[in-house]
Amino acid sequence: MCLSTKVFQATPLLSNSDLEELVALLKEGSVAAIPTETVYGLAGELFNEAALQKIFRAKGRPADNPLIAHIGSMGDLGGLSEGPSKLFYRLADRFWPGPLTLIAARSKRVPDIAAGCLPTVAVRMPSHPCALQILKRFGPLAAPSANLSGRPSPTAAAHVLEDFEGVIPLVVDGGAALFGLESTVINTVGDIPVLLRPGAISREAIEEFLGMRLSSPEKGSEGASPGMKYRHYAPKAKVILVESEKELAALLKEGAYVPDHLTAQTLYAELRMADLLQKSLIAIHVDAAMRLDEALMNRLEKASENYHHILDLP
Ligand code: TXA
Ligand code: MG
Repeated sequence: MCLSTKVFQATPLLSNSDLEELVALLKEGSVAAIPTETVYGLAGELFNEAALQKIFRAKGRPADNPLIAHIGSMGDLGGLSEGPSKLFYRLADRFWPGPLTLIAARSKRVPDIAAGCLPTVAVRMPSHPCALQILKRFGPLAAPSANLSGRPSPTAAAHVLEDFEGVIPLVVDGGAALFGLESTVINTVGDIPVLLRPGAISREAIEEFLGMRLSSPEKGSEGASPGMKYRHYAPKAKVILVESEKELAALLKEGAYVPDHLTAQTLYAELRMADLLQKSLIAIHVDAAMRLDEALMNRLEKASENYHHILDLP
């Protein structure tokens, strides 16, 4: 698509001239990678179908997997959804700006292609200072994670360049992502909130705040969050989960890549590192603390070959 990819530094904010260059580029219908507190996003103007098409094309993303609309102020919500529920406002009020995505009834202004033709729209207000700076200046941006479809999400500007160098015109480098896993997605249409994707904000934190349980999507109803049915977060190397230090040592001897102290923050970077080192196998020791992290376990389930053969995993 283009010959060279520029990198702007945002530490923690963009300079005025870089911000204006980014805004001009987005106004032309181009796309750019921007930092958020979860993972980097591949951003394009939400109301510009040509920009949205570029996002899908660059990622190789299936058309039925809708995008998240990112906003920088509550004033932008009106253009996206005609009637967010009470539940939506309660959660937004408590957790925004932050790593929570809320599903609401979609306004006709939001293009079909952004929403995979669903009657709903996914919205989030990120807390990364540079993401907010851009959104407040520009307005709503559609932004899926800035990785090739199926690859681990990018938690640093260098990861975005691995997938899109020479393909997108600009990457805004806002440093390492604070959380390292994607936002939690909750459907707020209907009386009972449904947890569609576990993420950076835990189920417990949300349930405690609401004083009610989050329900789960019905089995087989993949349409509830279309993205969750695709293979995800997967490196080229095979990921094997192990339960003991002994098994880990055996695989290490066989040449497997073994991350040290794996956490939600480092998972994607470690998966990418194994690929850079051209390892064919990654062995991950699942310890007791990791088992308690629903979002981390969800991503390990999607990335690994043997999740369901490990004892006692949900
Ligand atoms: O943390 C994040 O959410 C990152 C950063 C960049 O904000 N974005 C992200 O976007 O993870 P993406 O496109 O990789 O994942 C969006 C998820 C997908 O699983 C998609 O199916 C779901 O949100 N989604 C989007 N719109 C939806 C809708 N209307 N109903 C149900 N699920 C929806
Ligand atoms: Mg993604």
